[in-house]
Amino acid sequence: MADIDAVKETPKKHYYENIPMTSPGFSLRGAGSLDWGMKNRLAHIFSPETSRTVMLAIDHGYFQGPTTGLERIDLQIVPLMPLADAIMLTRGILRTTIPPALTKPVVLRCSGGPSILKELSDEELAVDIEDAVRLNVCAVTLQVFIGGEYETRSVHNMTRLVDLGLRYGIPTMAVTAVGKIMTRDAQYLRLACRICAELGAHVVKTYYCPEGFETVTASCPVPIVMAGGKKLPEKEALTMAYNAIQQGAAGVDMGRNIFQSEAPKAMMEAIRQVVHKNLKPAEAYDLFLTLKQKAAK
Ligand code: 5RP
Repeated sequence: MADIDAVKETPKKHYYENIPMTSPGFSLRGAGSLDWGMKNRLAHIFSPETSRTVMLAIDHGYFQGPTTGLERIDLQIVPLMPLADAIMLTRGILRTTIPPALTKPVVLRCSGGPSILKELSDEELAVDIEDAVRLNVCAVTLQVFIGGEYETRSVHNMTRLVDLGLRYGIPTMAVTAVGKIMTRDAQYLRLACRICAELGAHVVKTYYCPEGFETVTASCPVPIVMAGGKKLPEKEALTMAYNAIQQGAAGVDMGRNIFQSEAPKAMMEAIRQVVHKNLKPAEAYDLFLTLKQKAAK
């Protein structure tokens, strides 16, 4: 016989009729109208406390093979992962090398095709969205080559990926790839980031520029995360990350400046403090040196 106690009217039930029900808000830039699954995935990537992220990019092998610092991801990178808010990588590395018990959100590289030996903008979508679902990823990502030889194709790759992701509640992060002849200035980055957001990207990853970066973030209606770019001395990389955050970036997605550092764990920790605690560059560099020394003992 069915247990009907739960539906019996008793004086103990509380309906709180006088307290209006609140609708939970979602503060991430541009994400207010997204569906629950999208928001939930974004909330895994962007800390709900700061609305910022420290993403570790290790997908370089998809076009340049075993990059310096990524020769043995199991040995060099897996130990860093607990310090990242999210990891950006290919499905090949995910399946072969990353422990499935890792609970960090995955941002899956979904474009590919040309190697460093060919025209890099000649990319296609290289992952089926169903595989992204199988891999339980929190976002999909690809390059967009504004001004590049295959500009239109790369933009259409992005719009297709956005549409596929929308079917399953998976957000898309567009990476504004800067071709050989393009200058990484604010005018170009504003153009590239805005196009990606207008055409549906939920997050845009782009490079920092010393002049006018705040106009790039201000004119982009979705969160911008800063790409690290080529390896810099640690103090310069920390300063660049600090400036990007203070000028409106919602975090960083750094690779070489972390895994090619003399002390990758110390660098990750220093970057975390810059992103989530607004630690100033000089103090972040001191922290880096202290942690590096400790690790050497
Ligand atoms: C490739 C990418 C990479 O993930 C990213 O640019 C690499 O990070 P970094 O530049 O910090 O090494 O999107 O184009």
